[in-house]
Amino acid sequence: MQIDFLKQAIADDMAAVDRVLRTGLDSDVLLVRSVADYIIGSGGKRLRPALLLLVARACGYRGVHHHTLAAVVEMIHTSTLLHDDVVDESSQRRGRPTANTEFGNAASVLVGDFLYSRSFQLMVSVDSLRVLQILADATNIIAAGEVQQLVNTGDVNLNEQAYIEVIQRKTAKLFEAASRLGALLAGVDEARETAFARYGMYLGTAFQIMDDLLDYTGDAAAIGKNLGDDLAEGKMTLPLIRAMAVGSKDDAAIVRHAIEHANDGGGLTDFAPLIDALKRTGALAYTQSRAHDEAARAAACLEAEPASPDKETLIQLCSFAVGRSF
Ligand code: IPE
Ligand code: IPE
Ligand code: MG
Ligand code: MG
Repeated sequence: MQIDFLKQAIADDMAAVDRVLRTGLDSDVLLVRSVADYIIGSGGKRLRPALLLLVARACGYRGVHHHTLAAVVEMIHTSTLLHDDVVDESSQRRGRPTANTEFGNAASVLVGDFLYSRSFQLMVSVDSLRVLQILADATNIIAAGEVQQLVNTGDVNLNEQAYIEVIQRKTAKLFEAASRLGALLAGVDEARETAFARYGMYLGTAFQIMDDLLDYTGDAAAIGKNLGDDLAEGKMTLPLIRAMAVGSKDDAAIVRHAIEHANDGGGLTDFAPLIDALKRTGALAYTQSRAHDEAARAAACLEAEPASPDKETLIQLCSFAVGRSF
């Protein structure tokens, strides 16, 4: 599934967001601009800002802060990617070598911090304590999620619930915040704001489950990242968790071996037999169906919303989250 439907729906607004982003990258330190331009200029789907823009519009917002806040969420996202690729030791992102490959770990971490703090400078300009509270909470929860994931590394006994908790924090929380902020800007009542927040949480969960599936089944050229990064890091994602839970002793042993030898690169040598085990146990199909469940829950949160083209786009986004190949 392609993403043109989304780009068309918000082209003008997104151009304005890009201008805020570009200005926001400004620094008299050349390396800051080089690294920030490198990652932001390499594209990305811009899903989180799109979400904020669409929700704001669906709620009838007519002000100017949506462009700033959309840029803020993309900046936060970008700073987490800079950090994430260092932590995950990833070498490809958005179809290019990662910033850590190109500029080194230190530059990536520090420019990640720059973008993160710049996002706070920008959000303060909206002059709303509620906005600050939502974003301060979201960023803190994302950080806790990433740390929890680190703690869980290599734990072959991790269960599905613990996995879902991590992805809700590290990924879905920012989708939730983006969606909630769009509604908040428009000044809708609490019930409607909560419905949009829940929509974002389910959508982000579906999105990350699919990301974790694509790390095994995707096409590296399409996703612009290397396959097998999660395994190489010893990350127990849903395909592996499911195979451990329902597979035979032999299947479980294959998963265990791949995770336990992740650090020495042995896990990746075993990639093909592991994929066979994930297919045999139905773990890949199960992962896909769990993503579909979450996407359906997201769409259901919008049931009370009046019909509109923006609502349709938000519902299409649920299909995209689980039908995407990139
Ligand atoms: C990557 O997010 C990190 C995850 C939460 C899986 P995206 O897939 O939205 O990354 P870009 O911005 O489009 O590159
Ligand atoms: C998402 O996790 C990272 C953040 C939310 C920071 P992943 O590690 O799966 O993301 P990718 O696959 O590197 O994009
Ligand atoms: Mg990663
Ligand atoms: Mg991933």
